[in-house]
Amino acid sequence: MSLFLEKFLTSYSWLVFFLFLLLFVLLCAKEFTVPSELRHLPKVPILSLLYSYARGEVEDSRIRRLLLPFANKHREDIIIKDLSHHIVQWPKEEPPDQMLLWRFIGQKNIILSNGELWKRHSRVVKSALNKNIPIADFVYLTNKLFSCMPDQGLVRWDELTMRFTLDAVGTTALGYNFNTLDNPDSPFIKQYNAIMDGIASPAHLVFPKIETWFPRRKLIALIDDLVDKFHGILEYKKNNKGNDMLTYMLEEPDMTDEEYRDNMVVFFIAGHDTTAGALSSLAYYFAKHPDIQELARSEVLKILGPTEEPTLDKLRNLPFLDACIRESLRINTPITYMVPRVSSAPTELRGSSGKVYLLPANTSTISNIYAVHHNEHHWPDPGRFDPRRFLNLDKQKEKTVDASLWMPFYVGPRQCPARNFAMYELRTLSSMLLRQYSWTLPSNSPHNDWPQNAFSPFALSLPRNMDLNFIRQPS
Ligand code: HEM
Repeated sequence: MSLFLEKFLTSYSWLVFFLFLLLFVLLCAKEFTVPSELRHLPKVPILSLLYSYARGEVEDSRIRRLLLPFANKHREDIIIKDLSHHIVQWPKEEPPDQMLLWRFIGQKNIILSNGELWKRHSRVVKSALNKNIPIADFVYLTNKLFSCMPDQGLVRWDELTMRFTLDAVGTTALGYNFNTLDNPDSPFIKQYNAIMDGIASPAHLVFPKIETWFPRRKLIALIDDLVDKFHGILEYKKNNKGNDMLTYMLEEPDMTDEEYRDNMVVFFIAGHDTTAGALSSLAYYFAKHPDIQELARSEVLKILGPTEEPTLDKLRNLPFLDACIRESLRINTPITYMVPRVSSAPTELRGSSGKVYLLPANTSTISNIYAVHHNEHHWPDPGRFDPRRFLNLDKQKEKTVDASLWMPFYVGPRQCPARNFAMYELRTLSSMLLRQYSWTLPSNSPHNDWPQNAFSPFALSLPRNMDLNFIRQPS
């Protein structure tokens, strides 16, 4: 026996070690067992779920592999409308205080608040968003994106769209161009990425209390420094008004500086990943379906002509392209499930079988919109990219889908306030791209069967390392 082992066994260390192990097992058991008051609900086996998380399985794959077979077998989907429309009964759950994400985003913003505070923020944000759809900015940035592309060859499309959407949200929402299309190594973005990587550490997400026991001082300093930078942009904006959402928000004297700043961080986070993911998925499905790409191109050329700059009116008049965008948002939904809501009182939820499920007060509940979009009872052959599902929905005698089940921006009062903004951003870039380029998926692409999304602890489904082969169209 080694000296170390001998000393270990003859001292009290083994007792301390054993107690720690026991505490750890008890903590895990408490964290991962279904509370007795919820045991009557149908459930996916917890061990399969834990194994899936432990091996870093991506969200969309887990839902298709574990949740959907379960939902289809039990034919039991709970109606999301209950949760989405009754926001007093179903407020957003307060996140654990210790999580560093809240140090970054702050607590006084549209995305985390409830009740009167949310109403006030939502009013200011919606009024700013409704003032202007910045098509000219989207056009300018799309041309800039084209200048980063070769006439012919491979492009890492998910990275380029991320740079595009960062500059788009910077310019149009915050009135501050991050210039990542010119400079992919922008220090601001590097700092942001380092922060998000730190925040997403699996151990800290599962056991947020670790953050209190062993504070990560370097990460905290990095976060505080970036929050200060947002504050700097806010101060600059107060004296340098522009055509951006922050300027419009500042016209409403309804928020404190802290609230403006927290909402700026929210716009920044909510406004770029989601749209970049949507643009990657859309180009991916066009690459996989050259016939559909060609149909969309013909429509764009008919309405916009070969060189005319897109305008709001023209972009509104592209039904086939619109159907393609909607279908790609369905099939690879950028935000797979919603921020948890919590029942404010004992509640009954009715399943599709008619059975009623009782939930006690304070039950944390998550709407899984990716699962809704892939439920074979609502969407025949849900894995097939078929934009025709969205054409002439109102006129068709036999509807192929129920449009109210399309919810990439969620539904009800707390649906995405930037839905219109994001849809025009997608329409502007994709129409100009179709006119300027044609593209295919390389034959050896890892994405050949399905878009390979990055692992995300924040419910995002965003394609990663997606190379597409572009050829500039003859002018
Ligand atoms: C394709 C792009 C986008 C998608 C798919 C999307 C999706 C969503 C979804 C599903 C929600 C509801 C989340 C929940 O309640 O748990 C949401 C909320 C929100 N989104 Fe978006 N979003 C997109 C783009 C944007 C952009 C560009 C901005 C800002 C410039 C933005 C700002 C917000 C804000 C502020 C909320 C919180 C609303 C509230 O709680 O009242 N989103 N988004």
